[in-house]
Amino acid sequence: MEIFKKIAPLKAFLEGIRRSENTIGLVPTMGALHNGHLALINASKAQNSVTICTIYINPTQFNNPRDLEKYPRNIDRDLELLQTAGCDVAFCPENAEMYESKPHLKFDFGSLGNVMEGKHRPGHFSGVALVVSKLFNVIRPDNAYFGQKDWQQFAIIQQVVQELKFDIKLHSIPTLREQDGLAMSSRNLRLSFHERPKATVFYKALLEARKDLRMGEPISKVKERVSEIVGKTAGASLEYFEVAESKNLNVLEFVNGAEMPILCIAGYIGEIRLIDNMFLK
Ligand code: PAF
Repeated sequence: MEIFKKIAPLKAFLEGIRRSENTIGLVPTMGALHNGHLALINASKAQNSVTICTIYINPTQFNNPRDLEKYPRNIDRDLELLQTAGCDVAFCPENAEMYESKPHLKFDFGSLGNVMEGKHRPGHFSGVALVVSKLFNVIRPDNAYFGQKDWQQFAIIQQVVQELKFDIKLHSIPTLREQDGLAMSSRNLRLSFHERPKATVFYKALLEARKDLRMGEPISKVKERVSEIVGKTAGASLEYFEVAESKNLNVLEFVNGAEMPILCIAGYIGEIRLIDNMFLK
């Protein structure tokens, strides 16, 4: 596996690859890799001649400085996992390489960015869009792979690709779960031994909510039930539970007539913020 820390040699390397009509698949990550990331690598490997994984903890997408400080980091293990998974290229830049000076560009996604994650993490999606645009510009992949757990992020990146006319096909890969249902996430590493079993509460709440919605319960009632389920777990708190139209993230009051509703949840176990989602159908 080739490892790059600087943009210029990476670009030169990728230029050579592009000349021989190879396709490039990109898996952008913030490291602390788990099997969910490896599923993205595998999806890319199946569809491209060359797979590149980026490992970069992007400071501009953290609205909470403590979250940035505590974000799990283990670059040596990450590189070993990528090597074993057969990833071809790793790009692990330092902050100075990605942001030569304080960035001025800001993105505004309107209603798409004002709900759920956008509402509770001000500036988060602007930071995501900025770093992903930089990576798209530098790497110019044919395909890029993201996890379904961050569904709103995927919708935001679709918007970026459409508006900035990037010639890149985006792929959302289903969430991988631990045996007890907890969605795989780098942040799970921050859960203590006692917190870890409680973290399944969000998955369980989603399952209950989906069952009730399928039986025709109104969304308002289902929201009460979700609050109750999360509230009963000591140390857990609910930030939001919404049912939204998956293509534009418009929050729904009724599921009737909606095309492809998605149930989205976010909350805390202690100080660890977790998110999850599930399609209704
Ligand atoms: O989903 C993530 O890990 C990050 O938001 C991403 C897409 C790598 C951008 O920093």
